Amino acid sequence: MNRLPDFPWDSLAGQKELAAAHPDGIVDLSVGTPVDPVPESIRAALASVSGVPGYPATHGTPALRSAAVAALRRRHGAEGVEPDAVLPTIGSKELVAWLPTLLGAGPGDLVVIPELAYPTYEVGALLAGASVLRADGLTALGPQRPRVLWLNSPSNPTGRVLGVEHLRKVVEWARERGTIVVSDECYLALGWEGEPVSLLHPSVHGGRLDGLLAVHSLSKSANLAGYRAGFVTGDPALVADLLAVRKHAGMIVPRPVQEAMTVALGDDEALREQRERYAARRAVLRKALQDSGFRIDHSEAGLYLWATRDEDAAVTVDWLARHGILVAPGSFYGPAGGRHVRIALTATDERVDAAAARLSAL
Ligand SMILES: Cc1ncc(COP(=O)(O)O)c(C=O)c1O
Repeated sequence: MNRLPDFPWDSLAGQKELAAAHPDGIVDLSVGTPVDPVPESIRAALASVSGVPGYPATHGTPALRSAAVAALRRRHGAEGVEPDAVLPTIGSKELVAWLPTLLGAGPGDLVVIPELAYPTYEVGALLAGASVLRADGLTALGPQRPRVLWLNSPSNPTGRVLGVEHLRKVVEWARERGTIVVSDECYLALGWEGEPVSLLHPSVHGGRLDGLLAVHSLSKSANLAGYRAGFVTGDPALVADLLAVRKHAGMIVPRPVQEAMTVALGDDEALREQRERYAARRAVLRKALQDSGFRIDHSEAGLYLWATRDEDAAVTVDWLARHGILVAPGSFYGPAGGRHVRIALTATDERVDAAAARLSAL
């Protein structure tokens, strides 16, 4: 489809081959895909309803919606979220890609995405036929009235966290213009230095959720990337509109996955254990990269280290691939990323240690 960009990771095939030729094998840190097992309680929940033959509800079970509201309140201090305003999604990527279309955006509408962003925000705008603008500050937007403004804190790829003040200003600005603010919060539970704040926190929304949506994913927090498990919530009117379209379009989360999500959203202990695994891998990789001459920018939260050797990202990617380590060039995420690489924390302890040992031996 020529209106869409090439799929970025396809262009890493050569470097992947190079890295795979390393005698001790590849350490693939180029994508944020979980490697730790799905907790047993979640697998049991999935299996427990695998015999149910009927169609699942697009809106999800009442238990799932309540579990989402309770988890948002318990884990992130979210307030004002109504269970009816929770809508399960088939992972969050499909929602990101289709949200502008589902909201009725089209030619003549503007979608604002971060300067450095998960590529699917742009794809979603293009699928709707809308225009895209990359901006991190509001002044760059001038008098424009965007239809949708994406936030992503903690950020993929930089790990940057937006403070309460910043989030609140964006909300106020958007309300004056009738812009819908959509906050992609799939890394919210993975704060390392400081606590990331949700758009749904009362200090940000001031008691009103109109015009606000938060997108959540269980891929990273509960190792459910393979199940395809996410949800969107916030403004009840907007969520009702999304539900209406998604019912017509058959965008339904399978019933066993709904059950698995319900259990995962209640299991804070599994989340704590997973956080510890990532924190340990982050410490090992961070030190090894810094000791071998990398500078780490931002990266205070999320699943990535945003690293640079103050050279073109392609040179860094090649250099690491020669040592059997595959990473993503920052240019995948926007023109401003051309001198950084994104290094994922999603490899086994054994592979992370192997990467660190290779860097230390240089
Ligand atoms: C910022 C961001 N949003 C959304 C997603 C999609 O995640 P999923 O579709 O697994 O929920 C990702 C995946 O890496 C991401 O980095």
